Amino acid sequence: MKVKASRKASFNAAHRLHRSDWDEEKNKAVFGKCNNPKYHGHNYDLIVSVTGEIDQETGFVMDLKVLKDLIKEHVEQALDHKNLNIDVPEFKDLNPTAENIAVVIWNKLRPHINQSKELEVVLYETPRNFVTYTG
Ligand code: NI
Repeated sequence: MKVKASRKASFNAAHRLHRSDWDEEKNKAVFGKCNNPKYHGHNYDLIVSVTGEIDQETGFVMDLKVLKDLIKEHVEQALDHKNLNIDVPEFKDLNPTAENIAVVIWNKLRPHINQSKELEVVLYETPRNFVTYTG
């Protein structure tokens, strides 16, 4: 019997989507407002889910207090109030789209979650736009 346990979190960050090998026109056409040369912020909402068997002793799939602390240490400290393009090494040569941010978050958390559990990251860039990565 597998159960999915989830924890919500949020962080604020600035970014710019841009390819230096494309001209201005193409960058604007593809990335729209997110191509703004002076950067802009998003309020990202995050749902991290861990799926697995219920531990017979604790009744937990995973202690959500532990998951909360992992998100704080490995995601919020790395991304909150940062300029993703400039401050976060993972995005030095990678566009900080919601898709890529979700993959980066998943990679940061995966080593800290028991390998017997499945990990899922859902990242909202706006209330209506969100992406899901499960590895
Ligand atoms: Ni944007």
